[in-house]
Amino acid sequence: MEKLNKLAIELEQTSESLKLQPDPAAVEAFRIEWLGKKGKIAGLYATMKEIDAADRREAGQRMNRLKQNAESVLEQLEQLCVQSQVQQSLQREPLDVTLPVAEHMQLGSHHPVSLMRRRVFEIFHRLGYVVYDGPDIEDDFYNFEALNIGKDHPARDMADTFFLRSHEYVLRTHTSNTQIHGMLGRTPPIKMISAGRCFRVDNDATHSPMFHQVECLAVDRGLSVGHMKGLIETFLSELFGSRVKTRFRSSFFPFVEPGAEVDCECVLCGGAGCRVCGHSGWIEIGGCGMVDPNVFEAVQIDSEEYSGFAFGFGIDRMAMLAFGLPDLRDLFVGDTRLLSQFPDQPYFSH
Ligand code: PHE
Repeated sequence: MEKLNKLAIELEQTSESLKLQPDPAAVEAFRIEWLGKKGKIAGLYATMKEIDAADRREAGQRMNRLKQNAESVLEQLEQLCVQSQVQQSLQREPLDVTLPVAEHMQLGSHHPVSLMRRRVFEIFHRLGYVVYDGPDIEDDFYNFEALNIGKDHPARDMADTFFLRSHEYVLRTHTSNTQIHGMLGRTPPIKMISAGRCFRVDNDATHSPMFHQVECLAVDRGLSVGHMKGLIETFLSELFGSRVKTRFRSSFFPFVEPGAEVDCECVLCGGAGCRVCGHSGWIEIGGCGMVDPNVFEAVQIDSEEYSGFAFGFGIDRMAMLAFGLPDLRDLFVGDTRLLSQFPDQPYFSH
Protein backbone atom coordinates (compact mmCIF):
# COMPACT_ATOMS: atom_id res chain seq x y z
CA MET A 1 0.00 0.00 0.00
CA GLU A 2 2.87 2.30 0.76
CA LYS A 3 4.40 1.62 -2.61
CA LEU A 4 1.05 2.32 -4.30
CA ASN A 5 0.76 5.65 -2.48
CA LYS A 6 4.27 6.59 -3.51
CA LEU A 7 3.65 5.73 -7.15
CA ALA A 8 0.37 7.66 -7.21
CA ILE A 9 2.18 10.78 -5.99
CA GLU A 10 5.04 10.21 -8.43
CA LEU A 11 2.59 9.89 -11.34
CA GLU A 12 0.99 13.16 -10.36
CA GLN A 13 4.32 14.99 -10.20
CA THR A 14 5.67 13.53 -13.44
CA SER A 15 2.50 14.40 -15.29
CA GLU A 16 2.57 18.01 -13.98
CA SER A 17 6.15 18.54 -15.09
CA LEU A 18 5.65 16.92 -18.50
CA LYS A 19 2.56 19.02 -19.15
CA LEU A 20 4.63 22.18 -18.71
CA GLN A 21 6.74 21.36 -21.76
CA PRO A 22 5.07 18.70 -23.91
CA ASP A 23 7.64 16.94 -26.03
CA PRO A 24 7.00 13.76 -28.09
CA ALA A 25 10.24 12.03 -27.02
CA ALA A 26 9.57 12.65 -23.30
CA VAL A 27 5.97 11.44 -23.71
CA GLU A 28 7.19 8.23 -25.34
CA ALA A 29 9.68 7.74 -22.50
CA PHE A 30 6.81 8.23 -20.05
CA ARG A 31 4.76 5.58 -21.83
CA ILE A 32 7.57 3.03 -21.65
CA GLU A 33 8.41 3.84 -18.05
CA TRP A 34 4.84 3.60 -16.79
CA LEU A 35 2.80 1.53 -19.17
CA GLY A 36 5.47 -0.51 -20.99
CA LYS A 37 5.77 -4.28 -20.61
CA LYS A 38 8.47 -3.84 -18.01
CA GLY A 39 7.12 -0.55 -16.71
CA LYS A 40 6.14 0.57 -13.24
CA ILE A 41 2.51 -0.55 -13.46
CA ALA A 42 3.44 -4.01 -14.79
CA GLY A 43 5.95 -4.25 -11.94
CA LEU A 44 3.18 -3.50 -9.46
CA TYR A 45 0.94 -6.21 -10.80
CA ALA A 46 3.85 -8.66 -10.49
CA THR A 47 3.93 -8.09 -6.72
CA MET A 48 0.32 -9.23 -6.38
CA LYS A 49 1.22 -12.69 -5.17
CA GLU A 50 3.27 -11.26 -2.31
CA ILE A 51 0.24 -9.40 -0.94
CA ASP A 52 -1.85 -10.91 1.86
CA ALA A 53 -4.95 -12.57 0.55
CA ALA A 54 -7.13 -10.29 2.68
CA ASP A 55 -5.67 -7.13 1.07
CA ARG A 56 -5.44 -8.38 -2.50
CA ARG A 57 -8.87 -7.16 -3.57
CA GLU A 58 -8.33 -3.59 -2.45
CA ALA A 59 -4.76 -3.57 -3.78
CA GLY A 60 -5.97 -4.87 -7.15
CA GLN A 61 -8.59 -2.12 -7.40
CA ARG A 62 -6.07 0.59 -6.55
CA MET A 63 -3.59 -0.79 -9.09
CA ASN A 64 -6.28 -0.67 -11.77
CA ARG A 65 -7.10 2.91 -10.86
CA LEU A 66 -3.45 3.87 -11.04
CA LYS A 67 -3.15 2.23 -14.43
CA GLN A 68 -6.23 4.12 -15.70
CA ASN A 69 -4.76 7.37 -14.38
CA ALA A 70 -1.48 6.71 -16.17
CA GLU A 71 -3.36 5.98 -19.40
CA SER A 72 -5.38 9.17 -19.23
CA VAL A 73 -2.22 11.18 -18.43
CA LEU A 74 -0.63 9.67 -21.56
CA GLU A 75 -3.61 10.62 -23.69
CA GLN A 76 -3.56 14.22 -22.42
CA LEU A 77 0.17 14.49 -23.02
CA GLU A 78 -0.19 13.22 -26.59
CA GLN A 79 -2.89 15.80 -27.32
CA LEU A 80 -0.75 18.56 -25.83
CA CYS A 81 2.13 17.51 -28.07
CA VAL A 82 -0.01 17.82 -31.21
CA GLN A 83 -1.30 21.22 -30.13
CA SER A 84 2.15 22.55 -29.37
CA GLN A 85 3.46 21.29 -32.72
CA VAL A 86 0.69 23.15 -34.56
CA GLN A 87 1.50 26.28 -32.53
CA GLN A 88 5.17 26.00 -33.36
CA SER A 89 4.65 25.53 -37.08
CA LEU A 90 2.23 28.48 -37.16
CA GLN A 91 4.89 30.63 -35.54
CA ARG A 92 7.57 29.36 -37.91
CA GLU A 93 5.58 29.89 -41.14
CA PRO A 94 2.98 32.55 -40.65
CA LEU A 95 0.15 32.21 -43.16
CA ASP A 96 -1.84 35.28 -44.12
CA VAL A 97 -4.96 34.13 -45.92
CA THR A 98 -5.90 37.72 -46.72
CA LEU A 99 -2.88 38.24 -49.00
CA PRO A 100 -3.64 38.62 -52.76
CA VAL A 101 -3.19 35.53 -54.99
CA ALA A 102 0.39 34.92 -56.16
CA GLU A 103 1.11 36.72 -59.44
CA HIS A 104 2.09 33.53 -61.28
CA MET A 105 -1.52 32.36 -61.32
CA GLN A 106 -2.11 30.87 -64.79
CA LEU A 107 -4.94 32.18 -66.90
CA GLY A 108 -6.63 29.77 -69.28
CA SER A 109 -6.72 30.31 -73.04
CA HIS A 110 -8.92 29.22 -75.91
CA HIS A 111 -8.06 25.95 -77.60
CA PRO A 112 -6.72 26.46 -81.15
CA VAL A 113 -9.59 24.37 -82.52
CA SER A 114 -12.11 26.63 -80.73
CA LEU A 115 -10.34 29.71 -82.08
CA MET A 116 -10.51 28.34 -85.60
CA ARG A 117 -14.17 27.33 -85.34
CA ARG A 118 -15.11 30.73 -83.98
CA ARG A 119 -13.26 32.45 -86.82
CA VAL A 120 -14.98 30.27 -89.45
CA PHE A 121 -18.38 31.04 -87.93
CA GLU A 122 -17.58 34.76 -87.94
CA ILE A 123 -16.80 34.70 -91.66
CA PHE A 124 -19.92 32.71 -92.59
CA HIS A 125 -22.10 34.74 -90.30
CA ARG A 126 -21.15 37.81 -92.29
CA LEU A 127 -22.02 35.94 -95.50
CA GLY A 128 -25.54 35.28 -94.20
CA TYR A 129 -25.18 31.63 -93.17
CA VAL A 130 -27.05 30.20 -90.18
CA VAL A 131 -25.28 27.99 -87.63
CA TYR A 132 -26.85 24.56 -87.07
CA ASP A 133 -25.91 21.98 -84.48
CA GLY A 134 -25.86 18.22 -85.04
CA PRO A 135 -25.47 15.07 -82.93
CA ASP A 136 -22.16 13.22 -82.48
CA ILE A 137 -24.03 9.93 -82.30
CA GLU A 138 -25.97 9.43 -85.46
CA ASP A 139 -28.13 6.76 -87.02
CA ASP A 140 -27.51 5.07 -90.33
CA PHE A 141 -30.02 7.22 -92.23
CA TYR A 142 -28.38 10.60 -91.53
CA ASN A 143 -24.75 9.51 -91.62
CA PHE A 144 -24.99 7.21 -94.67
CA GLU A 145 -28.31 6.33 -96.25
CA ALA A 146 -29.72 9.78 -97.02
CA LEU A 147 -26.28 10.85 -98.23
CA ASN A 148 -26.43 8.29 -101.01
CA ILE A 149 -23.87 6.07 -99.29
CA GLY A 150 -25.17 2.63 -100.21
CA LYS A 151 -25.18 -0.41 -97.96
CA ASP A 152 -22.04 -1.82 -99.59
CA HIS A 153 -20.02 1.41 -99.65
CA PRO A 154 -16.54 1.00 -98.12
CA ALA A 155 -17.15 3.98 -95.77
CA ARG A 156 -19.42 1.65 -93.83
CA ASP A 157 -16.57 -0.72 -93.20
CA MET A 158 -15.66 -1.47 -89.58
CA ALA A 159 -12.12 -0.39 -90.48
CA ASP A 160 -13.31 3.21 -91.01
CA THR A 161 -16.38 3.65 -88.82
CA PHE A 162 -16.98 3.35 -85.07
CA PHE A 163 -20.28 1.50 -84.75
CA LEU A 164 -22.49 1.50 -81.69
CA ARG A 165 -25.19 -1.00 -80.68
CA SER A 166 -25.01 -3.59 -83.42
CA HIS A 167 -24.57 -1.17 -86.34
CA GLU A 168 -27.78 0.74 -85.63
CA TYR A 169 -25.87 3.86 -84.56
CA VAL A 170 -22.45 5.25 -85.44
CA LEU A 171 -20.16 7.96 -84.13
CA ARG A 172 -20.64 10.29 -87.06
CA THR A 173 -17.84 9.94 -89.58
CA HIS A 174 -18.35 13.46 -90.97
CA THR A 175 -20.46 16.54 -90.39
CA SER A 176 -22.38 15.87 -93.62
CA ASN A 177 -25.15 14.38 -91.46
CA THR A 178 -26.06 18.00 -90.65
CA GLN A 179 -26.90 18.58 -94.33
CA ILE A 180 -29.75 16.11 -93.94
CA HIS A 181 -30.90 17.63 -90.63
CA GLY A 182 -30.70 21.06 -92.28
CA MET A 183 -32.77 20.12 -95.35
CA LEU A 184 -35.42 17.73 -93.97
CA GLY A 185 -38.71 19.55 -93.57
CA ARG A 186 -37.34 22.86 -94.86
CA THR A 187 -37.92 24.73 -98.07
CA PRO A 188 -34.99 26.40 -99.83
CA PRO A 189 -33.29 28.81 -99.85
CA ILE A 190 -31.05 27.23 -97.22
CA LYS A 191 -27.68 28.63 -96.18
CA MET A 192 -26.22 26.75 -93.23
CA ILE A 193 -22.98 26.04 -91.50
CA SER A 194 -22.33 23.45 -88.81
CA ALA A 195 -19.24 22.35 -86.95
CA GLY A 196 -18.40 19.58 -84.55
CA ARG A 197 -16.60 16.37 -83.67
CA CYS A 198 -16.26 13.47 -86.08
CA PHE A 199 -14.79 10.03 -85.58
CA ARG A 200 -12.91 7.63 -87.82
CA VAL A 201 -10.60 4.69 -87.31
CA ASP A 202 -7.51 6.63 -88.35
CA ASN A 203 -4.35 7.79 -86.59
CA ASP A 204 -1.23 9.51 -87.99
CA ALA A 205 0.36 12.99 -88.23
CA THR A 206 -2.56 14.42 -90.22
CA HIS A 207 -5.35 12.16 -88.84
CA SER A 208 -6.76 11.72 -85.35
CA PRO A 209 -9.56 9.23 -84.49
CA MET A 210 -11.52 12.21 -83.16
CA PHE A 211 -11.36 15.31 -85.32
CA HIS A 212 -13.41 18.36 -86.18
CA GLN A 213 -15.13 19.36 -89.37
CA VAL A 214 -17.12 22.33 -90.49
CA GLU A 215 -19.90 21.69 -92.97
CA CYS A 216 -21.41 24.25 -95.27
CA LEU A 217 -24.56 23.80 -97.35
CA ALA A 218 -26.34 26.14 -99.73
CA VAL A 219 -29.52 25.23 -101.61
CA ASP A 220 -31.36 27.61 -103.90
CA ARG A 221 -32.50 28.07 -107.47
CA GLY A 222 -29.66 28.33 -109.97
CA LEU A 223 -26.63 27.60 -107.76
CA SER A 224 -23.59 26.44 -109.75
CA VAL A 225 -20.03 25.20 -109.36
CA GLY A 226 -18.96 28.79 -109.92
CA HIS A 227 -20.84 29.94 -106.81
CA MET A 228 -19.26 27.13 -104.82
CA LYS A 229 -15.70 27.88 -105.94
CA GLY A 230 -16.23 31.58 -105.39
CA LEU A 231 -17.50 31.03 -101.86
CA ILE A 232 -14.68 28.63 -100.91
CA GLU A 233 -11.99 30.92 -102.30
CA THR A 234 -13.50 33.94 -100.56
CA PHE A 235 -13.68 32.00 -97.33
CA LEU A 236 -10.10 30.72 -97.48
CA SER A 237 -8.64 34.09 -98.33
CA GLU A 238 -10.61 35.65 -95.45
CA LEU A 239 -9.19 32.98 -93.19
CA PHE A 240 -5.59 32.70 -94.35
CA GLY A 241 -5.04 35.98 -96.19
CA SER A 242 -5.52 36.82 -99.85
CA ARG A 243 -2.19 35.35 -100.95
CA VAL A 244 -3.01 31.80 -99.86
CA LYS A 245 -2.83 29.36 -102.73
CA THR A 246 -5.67 26.86 -103.10
CA ARG A 247 -6.51 24.20 -105.66
CA PHE A 248 -9.47 21.96 -106.49
CA ARG A 249 -8.86 18.34 -107.44
CA SER A 250 -11.69 16.42 -109.01
CA SER A 251 -12.81 13.66 -106.61
CA PHE A 252 -15.72 11.43 -105.68
CA PHE A 253 -18.11 11.60 -102.71
CA PRO A 254 -21.41 9.70 -103.03
CA PHE A 255 -23.48 12.71 -101.94
CA VAL A 256 -22.15 15.22 -104.49
CA GLU A 257 -21.80 15.34 -108.26
CA PRO A 258 -19.41 16.65 -109.41
CA GLY A 259 -17.13 16.48 -106.36
CA ALA A 260 -13.69 17.81 -105.56
CA GLU A 261 -11.07 17.89 -102.89
CA VAL A 262 -9.67 21.23 -101.76
CA ASP A 263 -5.98 21.72 -100.99
CA CYS A 264 -4.15 24.66 -99.43
CA GLU A 265 -0.47 25.36 -99.95
CA CYS A 266 1.51 23.85 -97.05
CA VAL A 267 2.52 26.69 -94.75
CA LEU A 268 5.16 24.63 -93.00
CA CYS A 269 7.35 24.44 -96.12
CA GLY A 270 5.82 27.25 -98.20
CA GLY A 271 4.90 24.73 -100.89
CA ALA A 272 8.43 23.33 -101.28
CA GLY A 273 7.44 19.93 -99.87
CA CYS A 274 7.99 18.52 -96.38
CA ARG A 275 7.13 15.53 -94.20
CA VAL A 276 3.81 17.04 -93.08
CA CYS A 277 2.47 17.59 -96.61
CA GLY A 278 3.88 14.28 -97.81
CA HIS A 279 6.42 16.25 -99.92
CA SER A 280 3.66 17.48 -102.21
CA GLY A 281 3.62 21.13 -101.08
CA TRP A 282 -0.17 20.91 -100.49
CA ILE A 283 -2.37 19.98 -97.53
CA GLU A 284 -5.86 18.67 -98.16
CA ILE A 285 -8.43 20.48 -96.07
CA GLY A 286 -11.61 18.72 -97.19
CA GLY A 287 -14.13 17.93 -99.88
CA CYS A 288 -16.83 19.79 -101.74
CA GLY A 289 -19.31 19.38 -104.54
CA MET A 290 -22.79 19.96 -105.96
CA VAL A 291 -25.54 18.19 -103.98
CA ASP A 292 -26.41 14.88 -105.68
CA PRO A 293 -30.07 14.59 -106.87
CA ASN A 294 -30.39 11.36 -104.83
CA VAL A 295 -29.73 13.38 -101.65
CA PHE A 296 -32.41 15.90 -102.62
CA GLU A 297 -34.79 13.02 -103.16
CA ALA A 298 -34.09 11.62 -99.67
CA VAL A 299 -35.07 14.96 -98.11
CA GLN A 300 -37.96 15.66 -100.53
CA ILE A 301 -36.49 18.66 -102.29
CA ASP A 302 -37.18 18.90 -106.00
CA SER A 303 -33.85 18.62 -107.81
CA GLU A 304 -35.43 19.95 -111.03
CA GLU A 305 -36.20 23.21 -109.29
CA TYR A 306 -33.29 23.55 -106.89
CA SER A 307 -29.56 22.95 -106.90
CA GLY A 308 -27.03 23.23 -104.12
CA PHE A 309 -23.47 22.84 -103.05
CA ALA A 310 -21.76 21.62 -99.90
CA PHE A 311 -18.33 21.38 -98.43
CA GLY A 312 -16.83 19.74 -95.37
CA PHE A 313 -13.45 20.99 -94.17
CA GLY A 314 -11.22 19.75 -91.36
CA ILE A 315 -11.05 22.42 -88.64
CA ASP A 316 -7.97 20.78 -87.15
CA ARG A 317 -6.26 20.78 -90.55
CA MET A 318 -7.04 24.48 -90.91
CA ALA A 319 -5.70 25.10 -87.39
CA MET A 320 -2.52 23.20 -88.33
CA LEU A 321 -2.10 25.48 -91.32
CA ALA A 322 -2.94 28.67 -89.43
CA PHE A 323 -0.57 27.91 -86.55
CA GLY A 324 2.10 25.94 -88.43
CA LEU A 325 1.65 22.78 -86.37
CA PRO A 326 3.53 19.71 -87.62
CA ASP A 327 1.36 17.04 -85.95
CA LEU A 328 -2.42 17.26 -85.74
CA ARG A 329 -2.54 14.89 -82.78
CA ASP A 330 -0.65 17.45 -80.62
CA LEU A 331 -3.92 19.38 -80.53
CA PHE A 332 -5.59 16.67 -78.50
CA VAL A 333 -2.94 15.77 -75.93
CA GLY A 334 -3.95 18.61 -73.60
CA ASP A 335 -0.39 19.82 -72.95
CA THR A 336 -0.83 23.36 -71.59
CA ARG A 337 2.72 24.31 -72.62
CA LEU A 338 1.58 23.98 -76.21
CA LEU A 339 -2.01 25.14 -75.80
CA SER A 340 -1.15 28.38 -74.00
CA GLN A 341 0.85 29.64 -77.00
CA PHE A 342 -2.05 30.47 -79.27
CA PRO A 343 -3.18 34.06 -79.51
CA ASP A 344 -6.84 34.89 -79.96
CA GLN A 345 -6.24 36.12 -83.55
CA PRO A 346 -4.36 33.21 -85.10
CA TYR A 347 -4.39 33.65 -88.87
CA PHE A 348 -1.86 34.71 -91.44
CA SER A 349 -1.41 38.42 -91.79
CA HIS A 350 -0.17 38.48 -95.40
N1 PHE B 1 -18.07 14.59 -95.83
C1 PHE B 1 -16.89 14.59 -96.63
C2 PHE B 1 -15.75 14.01 -95.79
O1 PHE B 1 -15.92 13.75 -94.68
C3 PHE B 1 -16.49 15.94 -97.08
C4 PHE B 1 -17.49 16.56 -98.00
C5 PHE B 1 -18.51 17.35 -97.51
C6 PHE B 1 -17.41 16.34 -99.37
C7 PHE B 1 -19.42 17.94 -98.36
C8 PHE B 1 -18.30 16.93 -100.22
C9 PHE B 1 -19.30 17.71 -99.70
O2 PHE B 1 -14.67 13.81 -96.26
